[in-house]
Amino acid sequence: MARSLAKDENRSVQVAAALALPDAEARKALVAALSRGGAGDEHLRYEAAWHLARLGGAFQELLADPHAATALAGLIAVDGACYENFPTKPEALAALKAILAAPASDDPKSLLTLVQMHGDMTFRPAIEALLAKPDLPPAVVGRALLFLRAKGGPARKLEEKFAASLADAVDAGTLSFDKPDDLVAVFALLEAGGPTPAALKLIGKQLGTANREVRDAAHALARRFGPKAEPLAKNLWAVLGDEKKVAAFGPEAVATLARIEPKPDAEKWRELLAAKDAAVRTEAVRAWRAFKGNTALTDILLREVPALLKADPELADDLGAVTRALELPVERLKPLTLPAAVTDKDALARDTATALAKLTPAERTRRAVLGQQAFERASCTKCHTTATQTTELAPSLKGIGGQKIEYLVESVLHPSKVIKLGFEAETVRTTDSRTLTGLVRDDGDAILVLAADATVRVLKADIEKRTVTKLSVMPEGLDTALGRREFEDLIAYLASLK
Ligand code: HEC
Repeated sequence: MARSLAKDENRSVQVAAALALPDAEARKALVAALSRGGAGDEHLRYEAAWHLARLGGAFQELLADPHAATALAGLIAVDGACYENFPTKPEALAALKAILAAPASDDPKSLLTLVQMHGDMTFRPAIEALLAKPDLPPAVVGRALLFLRAKGGPARKLEEKFAASLADAVDAGTLSFDKPDDLVAVFALLEAGGPTPAALKLIGKQLGTANREVRDAAHALARRFGPKAEPLAKNLWAVLGDEKKVAAFGPEAVATLARIEPKPDAEKWRELLAAKDAAVRTEAVRAWRAFKGNTALTDILLREVPALLKADPELADDLGAVTRALELPVERLKPLTLPAAVTDKDALARDTATALAKLTPAERTRRAVLGQQAFERASCTKCHTTATQTTELAPSLKGIGGQKIEYLVESVLHPSKVIKLGFEAETVRTTDSRTLTGLVRDDGDAILVLAADATVRVLKADIEKRTVTKLSVMPEGLDTALGRREFEDLIAYLASLK
């Protein structure tokens, strides 16, 4: 029967004929049809793979086939079983795990794509085994590490081992990514390798790119490297010297510069305070917080206050907040009569909603750019991402812009009023009398208690009591470091996250 199937000219007839047989024979006939050249036919390959996904029993054999087309049918079958959630799904995943340890091809990139789509934490050992192989293509290493990062738990050691070679590979052009998301993820991985010349070069290239997510990731990494990313300062001053780029990326360039220059040039920074672009001026004032204790620079700011207020009276709020953060002597601040900190939260909530309602769409966009910098300055990025991938600690804020302004304001001013489902903090008492508070995640025979500063693993046997608290993990009062207008910008930014 199998032989006559393979000889048949009409591919669909072959599959149909096989399906008329009892399951075990149908499976055999379909596999035979594929391996006798049928896999080369796109339609037969797809159709047979789909039926084999349902029937099961052949995943491993197909995946291990030395012929690329037949192995591809195996991948389609695994994907189909997972996607359709057939009862064969566990078997398909087990076959995928097994083949990772001994991939049929030298380039298991498509295997990893499937793992990224359908794999869970239990793939970790198989991925680690794969990563132990010599001479893996960088794209494979990249995908494997991204998977571990997303689903398999921290893999700091492995990230450290590969980060530098990944940067080299991107630099040499041997590793390229078709999706900006992948590049963003690579930036996340590069952190473990530190600011190597190749990593800095890669970041430098993307600091002024038009793709917002990629640009954000590049800036975020430069900021995390801090003064070690100093070689990038020249790229950023170049952005600030380019009129076209200033309008779009000026504020973030200013904010990053403030974080990476170990010895900021006083004259250059004074010029930023007088920049033509109002957003650059505003961001320069706000970024001045980084110069706490640097008297040369704080003196410049104080001297420029009258000129700044003349150019833009609304800067008073920002100057008030920034000079407070710089902890300048009271006798120097008093004559400037800058506004005091906002303490009435209800009024702040009302005024913010009113102020934002008055803005034109173009103004809102400009305020959101400034708000993005406030988002980072106010430590929001310690817990939240705004990208697709979520952190364990807090919900991703991607799409939060669909909420009403009032909800966004309340989420920041009163985090515990409405606690998002799945993010209820718990207090855990252990049998040896420790008390831990944070988000609790299951980890087999233990639980993980996650807080902003640390993750603690507690064996289930050592738990005395678990209680859900009424307090959010998100701290109250993060807004108090911001000026009134800066808070508005922050909310405008949240509202822009579509
Ligand atoms: C210590 C970690 C942490 C920090 C820092 C933090 N958040 Fe949160 N945030 C959370 C958690 C956890 C939740 C979900 C629980 C809740 O609703 O309170 C949350 C919820 C939110 C929500 C509501 C999300 C939703 O889907 O309803 C918004 C908006 C938000 N945070 C904004 C911010 C902003 C803006 C900042 C910085 C000023 C910030 N967060 C800082 C942990 C944090």
